[in-house]
Amino acid sequence: MQEHFLQIAYLISSVTFISGLKFLGTPATARKGNLIAAAGMGLAIFATILLYTTAEGAHLHNLPFIFGALFFGTLVGWIIAKKVQMTAMPEMVSLFNGMGGACAMLISVIEFHHLTATGAEISKGELLTIIIGMVIGSISFSGSMIAWGKLSGRVNDLSLSKQQFVNIGLLIVIVGLATKLLIDGEQTMFYAVLVISLVYGVLFVLPIGGADMPVVISLLNSFTGVAAACGGFLYDNKVMLIGGILVGSAGTLLTMVMCKAMNRSLVNVLIGNFGGGVTGTSAAIEGSTKEITASDCAILMKYAKKVIIVPGYGLAVAQAQHIVHELEELLEKEGVEVKYAIHPVAGRMPGHMNVLLAESNVSYDKLIEMEEINPEFSTTDVVLVVGANDVVNPAAKTDPNSPIFGMPILDVENAVNVIVNKRSMKAGYAGIENELFFKPKTSMLFGDAKKALTQLVNEIKSLG
Ligand code: TAP
Repeated sequence: MQEHFLQIAYLISSVTFISGLKFLGTPATARKGNLIAAAGMGLAIFATILLYTTAEGAHLHNLPFIFGALFFGTLVGWIIAKKVQMTAMPEMVSLFNGMGGACAMLISVIEFHHLTATGAEISKGELLTIIIGMVIGSISFSGSMIAWGKLSGRVNDLSLSKQQFVNIGLLIVIVGLATKLLIDGEQTMFYAVLVISLVYGVLFVLPIGGADMPVVISLLNSFTGVAAACGGFLYDNKVMLIGGILVGSAGTLLTMVMCKAMNRSLVNVLIGNFGGGVTGTSAAIEGSTKEITASDCAILMKYAKKVIIVPGYGLAVAQAQHIVHELEELLEKEGVEVKYAIHPVAGRMPGHMNVLLAESNVSYDKLIEMEEINPEFSTTDVVLVVGANDVVNPAAKTDPNSPIFGMPILDVENAVNVIVNKRSMKAGYAGIENELFFKPKTSMLFGDAKKALTQLVNEIKSLG
């Protein structure tokens, strides 16, 4: 009877995972989606603890340890998630993902021990599942920890000479030893594969540029999903299998979407040297920039009919989301139509700008995706670019030598006036100059986004 209730609980949990993912598709329902899926996960966990019985009818032991670990884990996770800054979100995701990889790795280690301790022969299918879960989980764990270290500034980029060959060599060793392990089932071989997989995870992520980490984290996230799905196979646990497959496929899709939006292949992300101030052989930019004061900017915007705000990474760094919302409300009171243009890879993580602006209660219907907003720039009086750079760089369309050539961009230069707020003439993530800043219709409003926009808001207010 209990088994039936357990299976029903698993079925409900699986449905919540799928509907949760569906709700995560738009900012308006994302929070609800997260809560639904989390509730489903809670149900699956408690149903397993309370209803699971072995073939002999025994319940789970060690309940004080299980509840103690649950309480401690929940508390730590809650505190970290509450305290995290939006700009530090990718590193938190990486840390949590690493924990998922470690769980998958430990499941394999414990089950291998468990099965070998009984002395009974392990079926090849079981052993293969254990090995795959262990290898992928270990890579995901150590790789995610390095990604976390790099994003939080604790670990520097480091690559050995001929690093790619070393990595490929290690992969071949892992596959070779894992095959031997599958044939012999030998304990020492098991631990050798475990250690080499951990080392591979470190070496795989170490040389990748810090700014490429979001793509790598998404890839590692899909690894964790696959490793968890192996746990599902091993325990014949359907909810674990479904959860793992969902994470694995969502992570893979997200990785592909990010690469496509940046117009880069995954191989280029993993072994390419992107960013870091390299200008390569891109065309030299001629002309000079023109500065604008906050008061002139205020006049231009207050008397405009339509303004489009383009948020970018700098808006997140400056935490200027609240002041930008205040600016939007102020302009709307003056009868100006205001919209936000959202580029799919603006910022440093998927949906970065949506999450940031939602935090300051910007209405979702004002956040317009790139394909939809691009035709609107030609009917716009003022575009205000706040801390964005690559996503408005025309070189993506005009310069075949540019590293971002082919990346779809926001066509801000079609507007009548373009105002760009950033602190200096420094490059953005791709490390390249931006000819938009040198165009006659572009004016630079230099300064930290929060300070510059606060000044702008005050100037508009003072115009009465
Ligand atoms: P970026 O090209 O990185 O440019 C951001 C600009 O913000 C910089 O040029 C910087 O110039 C300025 N800035 C920094 N701090 C500021 C502050 N406090 N106040 C005002 N401005 C500030 O940003 P983007 O246009 O959003 O493009 C995102 C880039 O990241 C793309 O190349 C994309 O491919 C890449 N990427 C995105 C993702 C995802 S999923 N979103 C993942 C990986 C990589 P100053 O230093 O002069 O101020």
